[in-house]
Amino acid sequence: MPLILGIETSCDETSAAVIDGTGDNVEQRSLVILSQDIHRVFGGVVPEIASRAHLTSIVPVVERALNEGGVKLEDIDAIAVTSAPGLVGALLVGVCYAKSLGFAKGIRVVPVHHMEGHLFATSLEHESAVPPFTTLLVSGGHTMLLDVEAWGRYRLLGATRDDAAGEAFDKVAKMLGLPYPGGRHVESLAREGDPTRFRFKPPMVRRSDAPGDDDYYAFSFSGLKTAVLNAVRGSSDIDVDRSAIARGFQDALVASLVEKTLRAAREYSRTRIVLGGGVACNTALSSVLAERALQIGANVFAPSPRLATDNAAMIARAGLFRHERGEHAGFDLNAHASQPIPGLIAA
Ligand code: KG4
Ligand code: ZN
Repeated sequence: MPLILGIETSCDETSAAVIDGTGDNVEQRSLVILSQDIHRVFGGVVPEIASRAHLTSIVPVVERALNEGGVKLEDIDAIAVTSAPGLVGALLVGVCYAKSLGFAKGIRVVPVHHMEGHLFATSLEHESAVPPFTTLLVSGGHTMLLDVEAWGRYRLLGATRDDAAGEAFDKVAKMLGLPYPGGRHVESLAREGDPTRFRFKPPMVRRSDAPGDDDYYAFSFSGLKTAVLNAVRGSSDIDVDRSAIARGFQDALVASLVEKTLRAAREYSRTRIVLGGGVACNTALSSVLAERALQIGANVFAPSPRLATDNAAMIARAGLFRHERGEHAGFDLNAHASQPIPGLIAA
């Protein structure tokens, strides 16, 4: 069975993992994630600092993943590495390291699209999270709604017109004086918040929406963000209002994500819905979605926080699929800041 070493350096996590398996029968042998805390000081990821930190940590992180997985580099059949999308300097550290290891040891390199990694992540923990399914991928940089007919056959139904869902959480966190990255802080604050005090309209959702409409599956969060900013500015006592504003924001954002996801599951008659990306850690999102999905006879699968946020196990998993299809890169492999997810078919 192929042994895959995964490497992920697209943003501010240096991660390596080893998986073992064929098809959907996969075992995760190890997963090491080193988060770069330094960006907290700046309130966001500083690309140059991220690249330098990856350079310092990549060797020990990969060595530790191999050790914990009980394997030697010589046993590895393929090295899967995130080559797009992300911060190009950060991506280049992983790509160059993977190519060097591959060249030195005669191991093939498999380029992986970061979002395809997120799409595969949940299947590492839930054996039923396999196609066909509807998936909502919500991270700091992307918001994508896809119909997954099979691995490698994706219909892109909707994406965000402006901010990504995670980005909206992070910006609202900043407005509320919470640390970066703010998603989980907004979630815990919202838990104490009165849901009736600040009601924001769920973006891009109207009763008159019908399949075939341009924005039937589309997302937009910048209007909601402005509404939150106005509420913060208009508050006479932000210490009193903070949790209720967080709650109102989260309720509106979740309502929009849930509504669009259910539209997709209904339209394509899917009985499985898979969440992925850092915002999939949000339990308000997964529980509201699970509750509403039951009404259409669908089950929701959400990854644990470790696999929802950036990690190399998901890159190894997507890489195994691409490896089994013989999709290997030459030594001219480059990193790309943006690139469409592979395997797109007409919606
Ligand atoms: O997938 P990810 O680790 O990195 C990217 O590829 O962007 O996602 C990070 C994003 C951040 O915006 C973070 O605030 C958000 O996921 N996030 C959350 C939660 N945990 C992480 N958003 C909402 N609720 C959470 N519990
Ligand atoms: Zn990600």
